[in-house]
Amino acid sequence: MGSAVLSDSKIVATYRERTQGSERLAGEAKDLFPSGVTHDARNLQPYGIYVTRAEGSHKWDVDGNEYIDYFGGHGALLLGHNHPKVLAAIHEALDNGTHFGANHALEIRWAQLVQKLIPSAQRVRFTSSGTEATLMALRLARAWTGKSKLVRFKGHFHGWHDHMTSGFRSHFDGSPTVGVLSALAEKVVLLEPGDIDAARSLITSDHEIAAVILEPTGLLFSRVPGSPDFLTVLRDLTDQHGIVLIFDEVVTGFRVSPGGAQAFYGITPDLTVLAKVLAGGLPGGAVAGRKEILDALDFDVTKREGREKIQHQGTFNANPLSAAAGVAALEIVASTDACKRANASATMLRAKLNEVLDAEQVPWAAYGTFSAFHIFTNPKNRKVAPSTFDPLSYDFEELTTNPPGLVHKLRLALLINGVDIIGQPGGTVSAAHTEEDILNTAGAFREAVKMLKCEGDL
Ligand SMILES: Cc1ncc(COP(=O)(O)O)c(C=O)c1O
Repeated sequence: MGSAVLSDSKIVATYRERTQGSERLAGEAKDLFPSGVTHDARNLQPYGIYVTRAEGSHKWDVDGNEYIDYFGGHGALLLGHNHPKVLAAIHEALDNGTHFGANHALEIRWAQLVQKLIPSAQRVRFTSSGTEATLMALRLARAWTGKSKLVRFKGHFHGWHDHMTSGFRSHFDGSPTVGVLSALAEKVVLLEPGDIDAARSLITSDHEIAAVILEPTGLLFSRVPGSPDFLTVLRDLTDQHGIVLIFDEVVTGFRVSPGGAQAFYGITPDLTVLAKVLAGGLPGGAVAGRKEILDALDFDVTKREGREKIQHQGTFNANPLSAAAGVAALEIVASTDACKRANASATMLRAKLNEVLDAEQVPWAAYGTFSAFHIFTNPKNRKVAPSTFDPLSYDFEELTTNPPGLVHKLRLALLINGVDIIGQPGGTVSAAHTEEDILNTAGAFREAVKMLKCEGDL
């Protein structure tokens, strides 16, 4: 299995034919946006689809093609597109005004739901995105401990701000990514995911560590799976050494269970970073956690204790529309089995995709936990039995690398067959996906695999 070639491909030609409206728009976009896109994950060769509307688990492009959607608003849409209660709440809020430049009752209800669901959330501060929220969590940790270093794990994603770019996709030696000051990167210590011995030896010997941050289910929502044992060890070590433990639950919060990964595993971090499901499909993030740590944002407490207050502005913090959508979504998460249904549908999807791979004798595998699915594309071309695939037997590099060009072609082949996935490749399953969606996805996957076989890519 070599690199997939996009030129002279029937898959590409068929895709172009079906998506002429998207191609026209992509032609305009390329003179406006770098690579014609507004988010790196939307980059697709030769161009991505332009979507006009969405409903439940489906979306439609400008050419009228319908897709089963596993992009899920980059993971924000646990409840699927346009959940009627979320939509009604947004409409009602919209009629009242989009920005009051003042406190409002919905932000209270929103934070109460966060407090009720997320075990660590003694206090909450809303932001406009997950990136902003991790940035604030790290600053809070440094302010609380008076220490400077941050520990993170290779490949874990915490947004795109300067502290957290080295070691996500590249710069695994800890050197700064382009445009980032080396002085910042030097203060971020990068460890191998799941390496308990390295974490223990670092934490017990380095007394300058302010915080340890990680995605609790493993990087990229378990593309390289984590383990609860690792979380337990980190919790103990950080407790013993006065280090702030931060769970980045931007994806997992309100998704793996109503109380996120921390409630599921029964391990409470000092700070939690939230976004995506939090805001019901509109922009929004939050840092939540121990009162005494968030007190660094409190005018009165910092004055009384003679501490310097952390400044925090943000024009759209807790904006009324996001608050309305967030309240509606979290009420549903709290009172229904939405998380469980999404998890169960993902389990079924992973099994069905593996049945296809088994039947087509393709040495790939679908795997993942909770409502995630990941497709292992076997970059080293090993012998793999899809249904018994165990990601724990593979290393970071193999799980996070794909044969060049192949993912673009797989995505195009799936789009032709009515399915939109993300490019890792994989996706998130929502509570709106039905059994019929899953079976249709498996059918589409089989057709896509056959198309790739025809072109000699598999
Ligand atoms: C685990 C994790 N942390 C942080 C972020 C950044 O969130 P945002 O895109 O809202 O800035 C993301 C976004 O995908 C994420 O997956």
